[in-house]
Amino acid sequence: MVHLGPKKPQARKGSMADVPKELMQQIENFEKIFTVPTETLQAVTKHFISELEKGLSKKGGNIPMIPGWVMDFPTGKESGDFLAIDLGGTNLRVVLVKLGGDRTFDTTQSKYRLPDAMRTTQNPDELWEFIADSLKAFIDEQFPQGISEPIPLGFTFSFPASQNKINEGILQRWTKGFDIPNIENHDVVPMLQKQITKRNIPIEVVALINDTTGTLVASYYTDPETKMGVIFGTGVNGAYYDVCSDIEKLQGKLSDDIPPSAPMAINCEYGSFDNEHVVLPRTKYDITIDEESPRPGQQTFEKMSSGYYLGEILRLALMDMQKQGFIFKNQDLSKFDKPFVMDTSYPARIEEDPFENLEDTDDLFQNEFGINTTVQERKLIRRLSELIGARAARLSVCGIAAICQKRGYKTGHIAADGSVYNRYPGFKEKAANALKDIYGWTQTSLDDYPIKIVPAEDGSGAGAAVIAALAQKRIAEGKSVGIIGA
Ligand code: BGC
Repeated sequence: MVHLGPKKPQARKGSMADVPKELMQQIENFEKIFTVPTETLQAVTKHFISELEKGLSKKGGNIPMIPGWVMDFPTGKESGDFLAIDLGGTNLRVVLVKLGGDRTFDTTQSKYRLPDAMRTTQNPDELWEFIADSLKAFIDEQFPQGISEPIPLGFTFSFPASQNKINEGILQRWTKGFDIPNIENHDVVPMLQKQITKRNIPIEVVALINDTTGTLVASYYTDPETKMGVIFGTGVNGAYYDVCSDIEKLQGKLSDDIPPSAPMAINCEYGSFDNEHVVLPRTKYDITIDEESPRPGQQTFEKMSSGYYLGEILRLALMDMQKQGFIFKNQDLSKFDKPFVMDTSYPARIEEDPFENLEDTDDLFQNEFGINTTVQERKLIRRLSELIGARAARLSVCGIAAICQKRGYKTGHIAADGSVYNRYPGFKEKAANALKDIYGWTQTSLDDYPIKIVPAEDGSGAGAAVIAALAQKRIAEGKSVGIIGA
């Protein structure tokens, strides 16, 4: 999600007094289906914990719980120059990271807009060529005299990718609307390395990293109170440190140099929570989103709560109202009747509209979709946006509560990043308060909550670099960074 509007004064909630009865009934119905009461959050959290456990078992479950082969806590003393690239959101990011060795770091970065068509290109080479070309452009700019020593690179690949070792990532399935053939079930590291080598750039991909693991480690590097790294962005996910002896599916696969008490970063991939549809309160719009997605049946939790989908949920609900004759009467909907034409910046901008009669929303529908709205219709649109945003915020913290309860954390910091967390109006407060509801905390200020969601350090830059540094150190010490024989 990009292009969120500038910050505006606190929006005033308009009165619903002038909304006709038939529209008011629709609003009340939306309130019923999109509101998530505390008891539901608690039931979701309880089921979440058992699903996390299943993911760690030999038999496995819906949640992949992928060991990320980061088996050390950063000390803050890691140092050196590293490159990092980040693929998985709206942009490709290339970063040069200088780790200071004193819990500090410097980054220099460039962002390359990922062409929309690249998400679904039929030619997988195009993706790797695009990344390697962007990397080359960055290197040429940063190192005009060329590179003398090879530079290690951490590749943040924000998709469910199985790892038998640190520099491997076998893509289980695409998420977030990506759908490129011949990459699923393959290791993406050699695909990228091949294109890098072809361009004669002296760079070695030493680690493959999930964005959540990067966030966890980057934040731990500066703040040892960090318990999890989470992303509320185009997708949703979280990572935390477990203990090797508690990861049943690794039994018999670890070499002797790894003690049972060794930590292991786990990329949960909990966007796939409740693919069996046991506990999440899905609406008919969630069902449509799923059925029309490139991967139906996958990422149930993510499809209800992440930035890739919030605008589309709003659009589907509005199309439904229009079809039933409640709104947009006699309007030309040709520009609006297109899947994903409204990204999550739309509900965000609508929620931020500061005017009593929702003038910004009026402009938005007129300018972008050629639709004239009445003020009553705009009140429905605004209320719906609030409900969809609040539902996302409330549901998305169930993953945090589940991990903290599973690990017995009573206090700590949850390092959060992502476009929804950083830019969706009111998200931070709603998420923090949902966590408070789950736990029944009595403190009144967010700053006093025992488990605090805090803005993360740069996971896919600094985090990738710290992980690359930790991996290199282990290798230099002759310690393993993968399962036996990998
Ligand atoms: C991916 C995760 C990622 C999350 C946030 C999900 O769609 O499967 O790997 O961490 O998005 O970017």
